[in-house]
Amino acid sequence: MLSTTAVPGISDLPPMQSDSLLALIALADADPRPEKIDVGVGVYRDGQGRTPILRAVKEAERRLWEQQETKSYLGSVGDKRFAELLRPILLGDHAGDERIAGVQTPGGCGALFLGFKLVRSANPDARLFVGTPTWPNHVPLARGAGLELVEYPYYDREAGEIRFDEMLASLGEARRGDVVLLHGCCHNPTGADLTDAQWDEVTRLVAERGLLPFIDIAYQGLGRGLDEDARGLRGMLAACDEVLIAQSCDKNFGVYRDRVGAFYLKAKRREASATAMAHVLQLAREAWSMPPDHGAAAVRIVLEDEGLRADWLAELDSMRERIARVREQLAAADERLAFIADQYGMFSMLPLSRDQVLHLRERHAVYMADSGRINVLGMADEAVDRFVAAVVETLNDPATHG
Ligand code: LMR
Repeated sequence: MLSTTAVPGISDLPPMQSDSLLALIALADADPRPEKIDVGVGVYRDGQGRTPILRAVKEAERRLWEQQETKSYLGSVGDKRFAELLRPILLGDHAGDERIAGVQTPGGCGALFLGFKLVRSANPDARLFVGTPTWPNHVPLARGAGLELVEYPYYDREAGEIRFDEMLASLGEARRGDVVLLHGCCHNPTGADLTDAQWDEVTRLVAERGLLPFIDIAYQGLGRGLDEDARGLRGMLAACDEVLIAQSCDKNFGVYRDRVGAFYLKAKRREASATAMAHVLQLAREAWSMPPDHGAAAVRIVLEDEGLRADWLAELDSMRERIARVREQLAAADERLAFIADQYGMFSMLPLSRDQVLHLRERHAVYMADSGRINVLGMADEAVDRFVAAVVETLNDPATHG
C-alpha cells in the first residue's frame, strides 16, 4: 500500500527573502516620483544618469554580428582567446607564468562560484576568511559551496577607516590552507582600499602562514588605473605559490547583463595547474555547462583591435575621472562626507542607520542599500546637490537617529 505520510514538496517551501540589492532595483523602479535618485546597485552612470553601451563594445558587437558564422559550442572553457587577451591586463608581468591557468565564466559571480567549489574539493577543512563588511553575495556563494566562513574586521563605518590592525590580528589566527578573500580594488561596499603598504603587509602574512589568497577583482581600471588597481593581486602572485582570482569585465567594459568574467588559478607546478583546471571545467560543466558567448566575444574583439582597444581605454579613463570628480563634489559638500574623496571605485558607505536609510527612501526618494552603501555615480549631475541636501537633512534630523 502507498504511504500517505505527508512529504514536503516544492509547495511547502518557506518564504525566501529576496537578494537585497536586486530587490532595491525593483523598489526604485517602482517609485513613481520623478525626482527619485537611485544610488543602489553598482552600475556606472554618466552625467545625464544613463548607463550607455561603450562605443568600443557597440562597434565590437556590430562586427560580431556581421562576422560570426556559427554559434556552435565552444566547450566549458568558453572563448580561449578572451581569457588569453585579459591575462596581461590583469596579471602584468605574471602573464607568461605557465602555472597560472584561466577560463571564461559567467561574470565575476561564476568565477567566485568555481573558486569556492574548487577550494572545497581540494581541502574540505579550509575556512574562508571574509571581511566585514563585504559584497553581500560573497556569503551565500561561499556557503552554497559548503565553506565555513570566518569574518575578519575590515572597515569602521563611523570612523570611515580600514580596521587594519584588527584585520591582521584576525588573519593571524587563520590556519595553513585557510582562504582569505580580498577585494583587488574599489572595495565593495565601502570604497576603502588597502594602501600599497597595507597590501604588502597582508601579502607577507598570507605567504608566511601558508594561506590561500582569493582575489575578487571586479572593478579594475575604475579606481586608480588598470595597473595600479592590479598591484595588490600581482604582489600576491609574486609571493604565493597558490592564488585564486575572480575577474569581472561587467563594470570596466559596461557589459553587466551579458555576464562576462574569468577565473584564474595559480598552482605550484604547471601540471598541477592543468589538473586543477580540469576540476574547474568539470565544476563549470555541472553548473552552466558552457559560459554565454556574446559579451566575452565582444570584449575579445575590442582587445584584439588596436583602435577599439584605445577607445575602450579612453572611455575607461573618462569613467574613472568622473568617479573621482563626483567623489570630490560629495566630499566637499559636508565635512561628514569628507572621507568619500579618499576612496576608490563606485561605492562608499555612509554612516547612516537603517532607519535613516529608510527615511531617505520614503521622504526623499533616495534609494541606497540598507547598509548605507551608495553608488557614488548613481545620480545624474543635476541630482548631486539634491542628494547631498537629503543626506545632510537626514544626518541632522534627530528624529531619524532612532
Ligand atoms: C553591486 O554590488 O551592486 C553589483 O555588483 C551588482 C550585484 O550583482 O550585486
